[in-house]
Amino acid sequence: MSWLKMSQKKIFLVLLFICTVSLLLHNFSWTIEDLHLGCPTLHARLASGLKPKHTNIVFLKTHKTASSTMQNMLFRFAELNNLMMALPKPNCGHQFCYPQFFSSHFVHPHTLPPNMITSHMRFNKTALQHLMPNNTIYITILREPASMFESLFTYYSHHCESFRRVPNGSLEAFLADPLRYYRPEEMYSMYAHNTLTFDLGGNKDRPKRDVAYAQAFVAEVERVFSLVMISEYFDESLVLLRHLLSWDLEDILYVKLNMRMESSKKSLSPGLPEKIRDWNSIDAHLYDYFNASLWVKLSELGLDCVAKEVHLLQQAQERLMKSCFGGQTPLQLSASEIKNKELRPWQPSEKVGIVGYDLPSNISQEAKELCLKYIMPEISYTPKLLQSQLLRHRLSFQNRTPHKLNNAQQTIHTTLPRHTQVPRNLPLPSNAQGPTSTSKSKSTSKPGVGISKSVHQSSNTNAFQI
Ligand SMILES: *[C@@H]1O[C@H](CO)[C@@H](O)[C@H](O)[C@H]1NC(C)=O
Ligand SMILES: *[C@@H]1O[C@H](CO)[C@@H](O)[C@H](O)[C@H]1NC(C)=O
Ligand SMILES: *[C@@H]1O[C@H](CO)[C@@H](O)[C@H](O)[C@H]1NC(C)=O
Ligand SMILES: *[C@@H]1O[C@H](CO)[C@@H](O)[C@H](O)[C@H]1NC(C)=O
Ligand SMILES: *[C@@H]1O[C@H](CO)[C@@H](O)[C@H](O)[C@H]1NC(C)=O
Repeated sequence: MSWLKMSQKKIFLVLLFICTVSLLLHNFSWTIEDLHLGCPTLHARLASGLKPKHTNIVFLKTHKTASSTMQNMLFRFAELNNLMMALPKPNCGHQFCYPQFFSSHFVHPHTLPPNMITSHMRFNKTALQHLMPNNTIYITILREPASMFESLFTYYSHHCESFRRVPNGSLEAFLADPLRYYRPEEMYSMYAHNTLTFDLGGNKDRPKRDVAYAQAFVAEVERVFSLVMISEYFDESLVLLRHLLSWDLEDILYVKLNMRMESSKKSLSPGLPEKIRDWNSIDAHLYDYFNASLWVKLSELGLDCVAKEVHLLQQAQERLMKSCFGGQTPLQLSASEIKNKELRPWQPSEKVGIVGYDLPSNISQEAKELCLKYIMPEISYTPKLLQSQLLRHRLSFQNRTPHKLNNAQQTIHTTLPRHTQVPRNLPLPSNAQGPTSTSKSKSTSKPGVGISKSVHQSSNTNAFQI
């Protein structure tokens, strides 16, 4: 009897020991992770305190580069923080009268003075510098030229005459003799030749042998843009972005948008990538240069800590997916399968399927309002954001102080500021005005919608808080 009792007691103690150790290890691992959330260490960050989030941004949206996902992120940030997003006036569509060079005449006057601008445009530095505040940070994104061209070729097969002329819609045929199909002066010719260069305001038709032009162009882009993101390293680029802007992890959460169906993607046969780079040589030059410079910046931040932040970002994305899509990753749906019309992405032609998402019908109203924005395609979000800004413009019209629009002096940060933020809780949607806690809790499964108190903006109406 007593032996049995003894043994029960032992088993109990052993179990207790195991529980304690696992609990300790569990907590310990959170602590370690928390310590490494930022680069450099927590101590340095605590010492320097909270840095205000940077809110004046030009994001040059390039074509077929994951830039729609970026635009959605900036739209959400602007809404949440009551910032002004410069948007196109109605007769420009949802782009700034692309492919014309950007002009401030294309901006809806009631979206001025802006904090941010991100809809498609052909870059014009002078016009933007006149429009934007003088401490605006310029950002863009590039994609590897071969996969980008394959994407452009499919996506614009219907719109771009140069591609329509090609027999059997064959990318091989186009690349065998591009000049046979390409007409530089045609309306949508920029989708067929050095598209990145064109979007950045450069000359897409400089010959490949003009290496000096490509080099000078790269140098000009580097002077203006503080960060050139790379689609292939999207999450790593976001870590750099977060540090550059002193944003929080919750500010860079995203759901991938405007993607093609797998069936619309083609793999490139051997030799094609080289031909594509040869034909789009200025783009290739840009890409190689800024991919290398991205990796220099990542190394400066520390590859270890970048990897940790990427990991934390991905974990936070998973939590977001859980609360938005009922515990599973969202199904990619073709437009006709999406019940909510607002969530159907633009379809470039019958031959190319662009996938979107729908929300499960059984998620809470709070979750619905939050999650909807993450998956709302550009064509629905742009008019929605415009509407809410027009309303705000009307309400604040009388007490708005005029903003100086003509600030030619521009401070462009070329070095990478270390972020000095304390990680904040991801508050529950119902608790959006919640405290800016300095401890980080992993237990919350709801994505953050907290507004930062450190945002530069004396806004008192948080119309978009849930
Ligand atoms: C760029 O904008 C400036 C200022 O609005 C304008 O003077 C210039 O002509 C524009 N450049 C081009 C190439 O359109
Ligand atoms: C286009 O396809 C047809 C039939 O599939 C083939 O006979 C023809 O040679 C192709 N043309 C070219 C230029 O590849
Ligand atoms: C980007 O640069 C890195 C570092 O130099 C290199 O390892 C990688 O292959 C490059 N990526 C592409 C797609 O060229
Ligand atoms: C919603 O429904 C799906 C299946 O249709 C289920 O897996 C999920 O748990 C449900 N979520 C909620 C919050 O009820
Ligand atoms: C930027 O503009 C503000 C006012 O709009 C001015 O006070 C500040 O000195 C300017 N800074 C630079 C670097 O031009």
